[in-house]
Amino acid sequence: MGALENRVAVITGAGRGLGRAHALLFAAEGARVVVNDLGGGPDGSGNDATPAQLVADEIRAAGGQAVASTADITTAEGADSLIRQAIEEFGALHVLVNNAGILRDRTIVNMTDAEWDDVIKVHLRGHFMPTRAAARYWREQSKAGATLQPSLINTTSTSGLFNNPGQANYGAAKTGSATLTMIAQRELGRYGVKANAIAPAARTRLTLATPGISDAILSTPEEGFDPMDPANVSPFVAYLATADCPIRGRVFFVAGGGVHLFQPFALVDSITKDGTWTVAELQKQAARLADVPFDLGRIPL
Ligand SMILES: NC(=O)c1ccc[n+]([C@@H]2O[C@H](COP(=O)([O-])OP(=O)(O)OC[C@H]3O[C@@H](n4cnc5c(N)ncnc54)[C@H](O)[C@@H]3O)[C@@H](O)[C@H]2O)c1
Repeated sequence: MGALENRVAVITGAGRGLGRAHALLFAAEGARVVVNDLGGGPDGSGNDATPAQLVADEIRAAGGQAVASTADITTAEGADSLIRQAIEEFGALHVLVNNAGILRDRTIVNMTDAEWDDVIKVHLRGHFMPTRAAARYWREQSKAGATLQPSLINTTSTSGLFNNPGQANYGAAKTGSATLTMIAQRELGRYGVKANAIAPAARTRLTLATPGISDAILSTPEEGFDPMDPANVSPFVAYLATADCPIRGRVFFVAGGGVHLFQPFALVDSITKDGTWTVAELQKQAARLADVPFDLGRIPL
C-alpha cells in the first residue's frame, strides 16, 4: 500500500519541473491527483493546456488516478474552481501543494512595474488563493466532524531566504510564502491542518535561467546519482503530505539527498533602555549592532 493511499492532492504548476515530479510520485504512492498548470512560459506569458494534460495522461497510463486543470491560481475563481474540481472528481481534498511559479529577474533599479507585480502575483497571491479556498473547505469539514488530516505544502526559495541579488520581486514573494506558511499553521492548526514549506533546488527551466547558479550545479552527470534531479525533492514533499506526518509549521531546504531545517527569523542581540531612546544615545549604543556576526547560512550544494 502506498504512503498516500486514500489522499486526494491538488498540485499547482504540476505540468513541468518539480510539480510534475511531485505529481508522478504522489500518484505512484496511491494519491488521486489534480494536476494543475496554466502552461505558460517561464516568465508567465501565454498558456497551454498540454503540460497538465500530459502529466495526467502519464499518471493514468501508469495505472494511477489523475485529472488535469488549467485554472489560473492567481484568481479567486481559478483557485476556487481548482479546489472544487478535486472535491467533485475525487470526493475530498486532503493535500494542497502550492508550487506554481515564474521568474522575471531584474535588478531593483531596472525592474518594471509589471515585472514586480506579475512575480508577486503568481507566487504570493498564487499561494494565498488556493490556500484560502482549501482552508475554507477544511474548516467546514472540521466543523462537520470529518478528520481529513489536511496537509498544506508551500514552495519557498533560498532566493528569498538567502537574499539573491537580481531577484527582489521573486525573493520577496518567496520569503512571503514562508511566512504565509507559518501563519497558516497557527490559524489552521485548529482544523487539523499541517502547513509546511520547502525551498527546493533542482534542475528545471527556472533554475537554468536563475542568475548566480554555476554550470557545475546545473549540468547532468553522465552516470550515477544526479543531485539536481527534481525527483529527489518529491519524496520529502510526499512525506509531508502523509496523513500522520508529525511535522507542522516548518520550512526546509530540500535538494539531492539532503533535507535541511531552517530556523525562522530570530532575535539574536539587543540593546534596551527603560524608556525612550534619544538619537544621540542610539548613536553611541546601537552602532555596535552593525558588527554582530549574522550568519545567513550557505546553500548546502
Ligand atoms: N528549480 C529550483 O531549483 C527551484 C528553487 C527554488 C524554488 N523553486 C520553486 O519551485 C516551484 C516550481 O518551479 P520549477 O523550477 O519546477 O519551474 P517550472 O517552470 O519547471 O514549473 C513551474 C510551473 O508552474 C506553472 N505556472 C506558472 N504560473 C502559473 C499559474 N498562474 N497557474 C498555474 N500554473 C502556473 C508553469 O506553467 C510551470 O509549468 C516554483 O514555485 C519555483 O519558484 C524552484
